[in-house]
Amino acid sequence: IPLSDEPLRLFGKHVLVTAGPTHEPIDPVRYIANRSSGKQGFAIAAAAAEAGARVTLVAGPVHLPTPPGVDRVDVESALEMAEAVDAALPADVAVMVAAVADWRVVRSADQKLKKDGGAIAPLELTENPDILAGLAHGLRRPPLVVGFAAETQDVIRYAQAKRVRKGADWIVANDVSGDVMGGDANTVHIVMADEVVSLPEMPKGDVARALVERIADALAE
Ligand code: CTP
Ligand code: CA
Repeated sequence: IPLSDEPLRLFGKHVLVTAGPTHEPIDPVRYIANRSSGKQGFAIAAAAAEAGARVTLVAGPVHLPTPPGVDRVDVESALEMAEAVDAALPADVAVMVAAVADWRVVRSADQKLKKDGGAIAPLELTENPDILAGLAHGLRRPPLVVGFAAETQDVIRYAQAKRVRKGADWIVANDVSGDVMGGDANTVHIVMADEVVSLPEMPKGDVARALVERIADALAE
Protein backbone atom coordinates (compact mmCIF):
# COMPACT_ATOMS: atom_id res chain seq x y z
CA ILE A 1 0.00 0.00 0.00
CA PRO A 2 1.55 3.32 -1.02
CA LEU A 3 1.47 5.50 2.05
CA SER A 4 0.87 9.18 1.47
CA ASP A 5 3.73 11.43 2.53
CA GLU A 6 1.25 14.26 3.18
CA PRO A 7 1.43 15.32 6.82
CA LEU A 8 -1.85 14.77 8.71
CA ARG A 9 -2.42 18.48 9.18
CA LEU A 10 -5.81 18.13 10.88
CA PHE A 11 -4.86 15.28 13.23
CA GLY A 12 -6.58 15.73 16.61
CA LYS A 13 -9.14 18.18 15.19
CA HIS A 14 -12.89 17.65 15.00
CA VAL A 15 -14.38 18.93 11.75
CA LEU A 16 -18.15 19.23 11.41
CA VAL A 17 -19.56 19.32 7.87
CA THR A 18 -23.15 19.71 6.70
CA ALA A 19 -23.99 18.62 3.17
CA GLY A 20 -26.80 17.99 0.74
CA PRO A 21 -30.29 19.41 0.54
CA THR A 22 -32.96 19.16 3.19
CA HIS A 23 -36.42 17.72 2.52
CA GLU A 24 -39.32 19.54 4.12
CA PRO A 25 -42.35 17.28 4.41
CA ILE A 26 -45.74 18.28 2.98
CA ASP A 27 -47.41 14.96 3.74
CA PRO A 28 -46.13 11.37 4.12
CA VAL A 29 -45.36 11.08 0.40
CA ARG A 30 -44.39 14.62 -0.64
CA TYR A 31 -41.73 17.16 0.24
CA ILE A 32 -40.10 20.46 -0.74
CA ALA A 33 -36.50 20.04 -1.90
CA ASN A 34 -33.73 21.65 -3.93
CA ARG A 35 -31.12 20.56 -6.47
CA SER A 36 -28.14 20.13 -4.12
CA SER A 37 -26.33 16.84 -4.83
CA GLY A 38 -24.17 16.86 -1.68
CA LYS A 39 -21.03 16.25 -3.76
CA GLN A 40 -19.08 19.31 -2.60
CA GLY A 41 -19.84 18.75 1.08
CA PHE A 42 -18.99 15.04 0.89
CA ALA A 43 -15.71 15.92 -0.87
CA ILE A 44 -14.83 18.32 1.95
CA ALA A 45 -15.60 15.68 4.58
CA ALA A 46 -13.41 13.21 2.66
CA ALA A 47 -10.55 15.71 2.36
CA ALA A 48 -10.71 16.57 6.07
CA ALA A 49 -10.61 12.87 6.98
CA GLU A 50 -7.65 12.36 4.63
CA ALA A 51 -5.91 15.19 6.50
CA GLY A 52 -6.33 13.20 9.73
CA ALA A 53 -9.34 14.98 11.26
CA ARG A 54 -12.19 13.32 13.10
CA VAL A 55 -15.09 14.24 10.83
CA THR A 56 -18.81 14.39 11.56
CA LEU A 57 -20.81 14.70 8.35
CA VAL A 58 -24.44 15.72 8.85
CA ALA A 59 -26.00 14.74 5.55
CA GLY A 60 -29.35 15.57 4.08
CA PRO A 61 -31.01 13.06 1.73
CA VAL A 62 -28.42 12.27 -0.97
CA HIS A 63 -27.30 9.22 -2.92
CA LEU A 64 -23.61 9.24 -2.08
CA PRO A 65 -21.33 6.73 -0.33
CA THR A 66 -19.87 7.71 3.05
CA PRO A 67 -16.22 8.75 2.59
CA PRO A 68 -13.69 6.53 4.42
CA GLY A 69 -13.12 7.48 8.05
CA VAL A 70 -16.12 9.82 8.25
CA ASP A 71 -18.88 9.60 10.90
CA ARG A 72 -22.12 10.23 9.03
CA VAL A 73 -25.42 11.36 10.55
CA ASP A 74 -28.32 11.22 8.09
CA VAL A 75 -31.15 13.74 8.44
CA GLU A 76 -34.13 14.77 6.34
CA SER A 77 -35.37 18.22 7.36
CA ALA A 78 -33.72 21.49 8.40
CA LEU A 79 -34.97 21.07 11.97
CA GLU A 80 -33.37 17.61 12.13
CA MET A 81 -30.16 19.04 10.68
CA ALA A 82 -30.07 21.80 13.30
CA GLU A 83 -30.47 19.20 16.05
CA ALA A 84 -27.74 16.94 14.63
CA VAL A 85 -25.32 19.87 14.32
CA ASP A 86 -25.94 20.79 17.94
CA ALA A 87 -25.41 17.19 19.05
CA ALA A 88 -22.08 17.02 17.20
CA LEU A 89 -20.52 19.93 19.11
CA PRO A 90 -17.90 20.81 20.21
CA ALA A 91 -15.93 21.08 16.99
CA ASP A 92 -12.75 22.88 15.98
CA VAL A 93 -14.11 23.76 12.56
CA ALA A 94 -17.59 23.80 11.04
CA VAL A 95 -18.04 23.82 7.27
CA MET A 96 -21.69 24.36 6.47
CA VAL A 97 -22.13 23.27 2.88
CA ALA A 98 -25.74 22.08 3.10
CA ALA A 99 -28.36 23.75 0.94
CA VAL A 100 -30.80 24.09 3.81
CA ALA A 101 -34.38 24.68 2.67
CA ASP A 102 -35.31 28.24 3.57
CA TRP A 103 -38.92 27.37 4.34
CA ARG A 104 -40.88 24.45 5.73
CA VAL A 105 -44.57 23.66 5.72
CA VAL A 106 -46.11 24.88 8.99
CA ARG A 107 -48.17 21.76 9.64
CA SER A 108 -47.28 18.79 7.46
CA ALA A 109 -50.25 16.44 7.03
CA ASP A 110 -50.36 13.05 8.80
CA GLN A 111 -52.18 11.50 5.85
CA LYS A 112 -51.64 11.88 2.11
CA LEU A 113 -53.39 14.99 0.80
CA LYS A 114 -56.16 14.25 -1.74
CA LYS A 115 -57.17 16.30 -4.78
CA ASP A 116 -60.82 16.32 -3.73
CA GLY A 117 -61.76 17.94 -7.07
CA GLY A 118 -62.07 21.40 -5.51
CA ALA A 119 -59.72 24.30 -4.86
CA ILE A 120 -55.98 23.67 -4.41
CA ALA A 121 -55.10 23.70 -0.72
CA PRO A 122 -52.49 26.43 -0.13
CA LEU A 123 -49.25 25.46 1.65
CA GLU A 124 -48.59 27.64 4.65
CA LEU A 125 -44.81 28.12 4.93
CA THR A 126 -42.59 29.36 7.70
CA GLU A 127 -38.87 30.17 7.69
CA ASN A 128 -36.43 27.54 8.91
CA PRO A 129 -33.86 28.45 11.57
CA ASP A 130 -30.50 29.56 10.13
CA ILE A 131 -28.24 26.74 11.29
CA LEU A 132 -25.02 28.54 10.33
CA ALA A 133 -25.98 31.81 12.03
CA GLY A 134 -27.16 29.93 15.13
CA LEU A 135 -23.84 28.10 15.34
CA ALA A 136 -21.71 31.18 14.65
CA HIS A 137 -23.55 33.29 17.24
CA GLY A 138 -23.93 30.47 19.75
CA LEU A 139 -22.19 29.66 23.01
CA ARG A 140 -20.35 26.66 21.58
CA ARG A 141 -19.11 28.39 18.45
CA PRO A 142 -16.27 26.46 16.78
CA PRO A 143 -13.11 28.60 16.48
CA LEU A 144 -13.43 28.52 12.69
CA VAL A 145 -16.87 28.72 11.05
CA VAL A 146 -17.11 28.46 7.28
CA GLY A 147 -20.32 28.92 5.32
CA PHE A 148 -21.13 28.40 1.67
CA ALA A 149 -23.23 30.63 -0.52
CA ALA A 150 -24.60 29.66 -3.88
CA GLU A 151 -25.19 32.79 -5.93
CA THR A 152 -26.11 33.46 -9.53
CA GLN A 153 -25.09 37.15 -9.62
CA ASP A 154 -22.92 39.66 -7.68
CA VAL A 155 -21.31 36.58 -6.15
CA ILE A 156 -18.62 38.17 -3.98
CA ARG A 157 -20.69 41.13 -2.81
CA TYR A 158 -23.59 38.95 -1.69
CA ALA A 159 -21.16 36.52 -0.04
CA GLN A 160 -19.42 39.26 1.94
CA ALA A 161 -22.79 40.51 3.19
CA LYS A 162 -23.76 36.96 4.20
CA ARG A 163 -20.44 36.46 6.00
CA VAL A 164 -21.07 39.49 8.18
CA ARG A 165 -24.79 38.85 8.73
CA LYS A 166 -24.34 35.22 9.71
CA GLY A 167 -21.21 35.75 11.82
CA ALA A 168 -19.12 33.29 9.79
CA ASP A 169 -15.35 33.66 9.49
CA TRP A 170 -15.35 32.70 5.83
CA ILE A 171 -17.95 32.26 3.15
CA VAL A 172 -17.09 30.07 0.21
CA ALA A 173 -19.01 31.71 -2.59
CA ASN A 174 -20.15 29.36 -5.22
CA ASP A 175 -20.97 30.66 -8.69
CA VAL A 176 -23.98 28.54 -9.65
CA SER A 177 -24.86 30.43 -12.82
CA GLY A 178 -23.53 27.40 -14.80
CA ASP A 179 -24.39 23.71 -14.18
CA VAL A 180 -22.61 23.43 -10.83
CA MET A 181 -25.51 21.85 -9.01
CA GLY A 182 -25.12 18.12 -9.48
CA GLY A 183 -22.00 18.62 -11.61
CA ASP A 184 -18.45 17.59 -10.76
CA ALA A 185 -16.68 20.94 -11.08
CA ASN A 186 -16.98 24.13 -9.11
CA THR A 187 -15.78 27.73 -9.24
CA VAL A 188 -15.43 29.28 -5.80
CA HIS A 189 -14.22 32.42 -4.10
CA ILE A 190 -13.14 32.13 -0.46
CA VAL A 191 -14.44 35.36 1.05
CA MET A 192 -12.66 36.30 4.28
CA ALA A 193 -12.74 39.47 6.41
CA ASP A 194 -9.92 41.20 4.58
CA GLU A 195 -9.18 39.02 1.57
CA VAL A 196 -10.91 37.15 -1.26
CA VAL A 197 -9.15 34.13 -2.72
CA SER A 198 -10.60 33.14 -6.09
CA LEU A 199 -9.86 29.60 -7.25
CA PRO A 200 -10.08 28.63 -10.92
CA GLU A 201 -12.77 26.15 -11.97
CA MET A 202 -11.69 22.72 -10.77
CA PRO A 203 -13.13 19.36 -9.74
CA LYS A 204 -15.05 19.43 -6.44
CA GLY A 205 -12.42 17.13 -4.88
CA ASP A 206 -9.70 19.68 -5.66
CA VAL A 207 -11.82 22.52 -4.26
CA ALA A 208 -12.21 20.43 -1.10
CA ARG A 209 -8.48 19.78 -0.73
CA ALA A 210 -7.64 23.45 -1.36
CA LEU A 211 -10.15 24.53 1.29
CA VAL A 212 -8.85 21.96 3.80
CA GLU A 213 -5.30 23.27 3.25
CA ARG A 214 -6.49 26.81 4.07
CA ILE A 215 -8.35 25.52 7.12
CA ALA A 216 -5.20 23.78 8.35
CA ASP A 217 -3.22 27.01 7.79
CA ALA A 218 -5.79 28.99 9.79
CA LEU A 219 -5.81 26.51 12.69
CA ALA A 220 -2.01 26.51 12.77
CA GLU A 221 -1.93 30.30 13.26
N1 CTP B 1 -27.75 28.05 6.01
C1 CTP B 1 -28.10 27.44 7.19
N2 CTP B 1 -29.41 27.39 7.58
C2 CTP B 1 -30.37 27.94 6.81
C3 CTP B 1 -30.03 28.57 5.58
C4 CTP B 1 -28.70 28.60 5.21
O1 CTP B 1 -27.22 26.94 7.90
N3 CTP B 1 -31.62 27.88 7.21
C5 CTP B 1 -26.32 28.11 5.64
C6 CTP B 1 -25.93 27.28 4.44
O2 CTP B 1 -25.55 25.97 4.83
C7 CTP B 1 -24.77 28.07 3.88
C8 CTP B 1 -25.09 29.51 4.23
O3 CTP B 1 -26.03 29.43 5.30
O4 CTP B 1 -23.55 27.74 4.53
C9 CTP B 1 -25.66 30.33 3.14
O5 CTP B 1 -26.83 29.73 2.64
P1 CTP B 1 -27.73 30.57 1.63
O6 CTP B 1 -28.91 29.75 1.23
O7 CTP B 1 -26.83 31.09 0.56
O8 CTP B 1 -28.14 31.79 2.57
P2 CTP B 1 -29.55 32.40 2.94
O9 CTP B 1 -29.34 33.18 4.18
O10 CTP B 1 -30.61 31.35 2.99
O11 CTP B 1 -29.82 33.43 1.76
P3 CTP B 1 -30.63 33.28 0.36
O12 CTP B 1 -31.83 34.13 0.55
O13 CTP B 1 -29.66 33.82 -0.67
O14 CTP B 1 -30.94 31.82 0.14
CA1 CA C 1 -31.12 29.90 1.30
